[in-house]
Amino acid sequence: QDDKFKKVISHAKEYGYVFQSSEIYDGLSAVYDYAQNGAELKKNIRDYWWKAMVQMNENIVGIDAAIFMHPTTWKASGHVDAFNDPLIDNKDSKKRYRADVLIEDYCAKIEVKIDKEVKKAEKRFGDSFNKDEFVSTNGRVVGYQEKINTILSRMARSLESEDLADVKLLIEELEIADPLTGSKNWTDVKQFNLMFGTKLGASAETAMDLYLRPETAQGIFVNFLNVQKTGRMKIPFGIAQTGKAFRNEIVARQFIFRMREFEQMEMQFFIKPGTQGEWYKHWKEHRMKWHLSLGMGEDNYRFHDHEKLAHYADAAADIEFKFPFGFKELEGIHSRTDFDLKAHEEHSGKKLQYFDHEENKSYTPYVLETSIGLDRMFLAVFSNALQEEELENGTTRTVLKLPSVLAPVKAAILPLVKKDGLPEIAREIVGELKWDFNVIYDEKDAVGRRYRRQDANGTPFCITVDHDTKEDKMVTIRHRDTMEQQRVKIEELRTIIKEEVDV
Ligand code: GAP
Repeated sequence: QDDKFKKVISHAKEYGYVFQSSEIYDGLSAVYDYAQNGAELKKNIRDYWWKAMVQMNENIVGIDAAIFMHPTTWKASGHVDAFNDPLIDNKDSKKRYRADVLIEDYCAKIEVKIDKEVKKAEKRFGDSFNKDEFVSTNGRVVGYQEKINTILSRMARSLESEDLADVKLLIEELEIADPLTGSKNWTDVKQFNLMFGTKLGASAETAMDLYLRPETAQGIFVNFLNVQKTGRMKIPFGIAQTGKAFRNEIVARQFIFRMREFEQMEMQFFIKPGTQGEWYKHWKEHRMKWHLSLGMGEDNYRFHDHEKLAHYADAAADIEFKFPFGFKELEGIHSRTDFDLKAHEEHSGKKLQYFDHEENKSYTPYVLETSIGLDRMFLAVFSNALQEEELENGTTRTVLKLPSVLAPVKAAILPLVKKDGLPEIAREIVGELKWDFNVIYDEKDAVGRRYRRQDANGTPFCITVDHDTKEDKMVTIRHRDTMEQQRVKIEELRTIIKEEVDV
């Protein structure tokens, strides 16, 4: 699995998808740049989301709020006081860790033991094996599960209180060691705020302290009434946006999974108080459907319902995806109640209420939020697509089986040879198709090598112009996933490609 992840990272670099930021200066930790293909893939994912959320829903509109916001926003939202990570230092190695992650990693190791027991039993009992029954009755597995539950709920209690001493005690009792050095010599646990600060204004005396937004959601909340009034929106309705967010992450690892500068795609759905249960269910199902529509495999997704809730939520679930390093959060669905709107009313002194004509009364709406990291979605799509395939002739090929709708380049147009008028015909086809699709021209190397290059690049179609094309106005179209080739008329190309890459 580690191996697969390394391949993902090196493939992303080699094929112009993701580069480390400021690489010539040895990079900046947990900051990445999207390259020529990466920028296209990222745009296509964003568009796919926008289309599903905004274009297809009459009652959802999109906005694009500024990254800078009035600093009181973050006092109201709770981020100044509560957007913290509990950190612990190792006194010997001087390394800093997230205390909750150390504890969660410890629990993950117990989960591996549970998996092993299940696999052993599965082998022993064969067809008659009932996993649910085994997990709930086998003494050893039940013991492991209870241990995990006790640890996690003790940690949650301590994190929710102001007193973090019990988190340190847990780390000591479980004899958790520094993952790098093995030392068990820990400091106390301290809270660390994740927001990046900056200043607005020219002189030191008058400058105003600002934060870079740690989530896009607040730009929607503060605009709630403006949008509702100018768009004459009726509850239930949603406001969506995509944009950068910034967090001073301490555990900055796992490539573009956890970044310090990243992009979110969020939607706040404003509803009548009391209806949050049904809308929570609706959006959980709806968002899962969106994921499954990309055809990346049902088994790669699961829900994780939260027990420990963020300061703003009354229910929350993650959609987890099977990344090369295991199941991890990809998207969050949160029932945020009226926490944010009420807090902004209080801090701004302005009413943020909705007048319900049917009920003839005003109220502060409740909010259902869907929030997905664009970069995380990129990693899910990219890592899932990267495959090594054994071919019938004994060779292997590297192929990036991106969903066609998301692929950066939809077709490569290849003249079989660089002479006899074939390049001219190929260029003409490029000239026609580029109005509708991102296509490229490639004449370098033997055609077999060009096919492999496009496979590794994720291009769904290769279109080859040969000597017969001059006579019959037909070309060979090769499909990336099946490697099947068909002879088709040049004039049919647009329709064939469109059928595959349009949603
Ligand atoms: N407005 C709610 C909110 O921001 P969150 O669970 O903190 O909720 C939502 O973040 C999503 O944003 C996550 O599910 C994840 O996909 C993405 N995300 C959060 N932190 C990230 C980071 N440091 N790097 C990349 N993506 C991140």
